[in-house]
Amino acid sequence: MVVQIVETPEALRAARKRLSGYVGAVNTMGALHYGHLSLVSQARDENDAVVVSVFVNPTQFAPGEDFDNYPRSLERDLEMLDRAGVDVVFTPTPGVMYLPHHQTSVIVDEVSQGLEGASRPDHFRGVATVVCKLLNLMQPTVVYFGQKDAQQVVVIRRMVRDLNMPVEVAVCPTVRESDGLAMSSRNVYLQPDERLAAAALYRSMKAAADRYDEGERSPEALRATALEVLAAEVKARVEYVSLNHPNTLYGIHKPTDDPMLLTMAVKIGKPRLLDNCLLPYALNNREHLSEILGVI
Ligand code: PAF
Repeated sequence: MVVQIVETPEALRAARKRLSGYVGAVNTMGALHYGHLSLVSQARDENDAVVVSVFVNPTQFAPGEDFDNYPRSLERDLEMLDRAGVDVVFTPTPGVMYLPHHQTSVIVDEVSQGLEGASRPDHFRGVATVVCKLLNLMQPTVVYFGQKDAQQVVVIRRMVRDLNMPVEVAVCPTVRESDGLAMSSRNVYLQPDERLAAAALYRSMKAAADRYDEGERSPEALRATALEVLAAEVKARVEYVSLNHPNTLYGIHKPTDDPMLLTMAVKIGKPRLLDNCLLPYALNNREHLSEILGVI
C-alpha cells in the first residue's frame, strides 16, 4: 500500500506537515461505499493531497443506538482508499480522540434541534465536536460532505462560519443505487424484501419534485404527495417528511418560490433511512448545493 496510515493525533499532525499545496479532507465512519468514494474523488480532483479519517465516533450515538454493531470493515476501507489515491488515512481509537477527563464540546444551537435532532438530541453535539477536532488536526483547505446528511452539512457549515474556522465546506450530491436508494453504510441492515421497499423514499421524493415542477408550491400539498407514496409501501414507517428552509432549517408552511429542502426519515425494518432533496429538483447538483445548502 502507498497510502500512509496514522493512528494518533501526533502522527497525523506530523503527516500533515509533510503535505503541501491544497489539501482536501473527507471525514468518514468507514464501511465505505461509492458515496464516500465520490467525495474522495472530488477531493482528489481539486487538491494536491487528500486526507481521510475513518473513525466510528461514539459521542454521536445515543445509548441503545447501533454504536457497537455499526458496520466496520477497516481493511477493505484502507484498500479502497489506497486505490483511490488518498495520501493519508487517520484511524484513531476512541481512547486517543477523547482523552480521560475530556470536557469540551461544540453545540451548534438552533439548526441542531429539529428534524434528526428532535429524536436524537445529542447527535449533532457529537458530530460537531468530532468534526471540529478532526479539522483542527487535518487542517484541510476544503472538507467534503455528502448531501445525504443535509442537516449535518448545515450544522457543520454554521460551526465553521461561527467559529471562524479556516476551511471551505464543499457539498457533493447524494450517490444513489439504480432504483434511487441513497447509498448509506446502514443499508447493509436491510433484509432483501426491505431493500426493495427502501426505494419508496426516492419515489416519494421524486413524486413531490414532479409536482413542484408542475407548479405546486404549497408545502402541505408537496408533503402530502410524498406521504401518499410512502403510505403505499407497507414496510415504511414514516418518522417525518418535512419542508424546510435550506440554511436556517425553519419549517416552511406557506407557498414560496424560494428553494425548499424536502427531508425525510423512514424506518424500514431495522434501519432508519434518511433522504432529502432541494426543490426544484434541478438544484441537486454540486454547484447549486454548495451555493444553497447551509449558506447564510
Ligand atoms: O457522516 C458521518 O459519517 C459522520 O457523522 C462524520 C461526519 C464522519 C462524523 O463522525
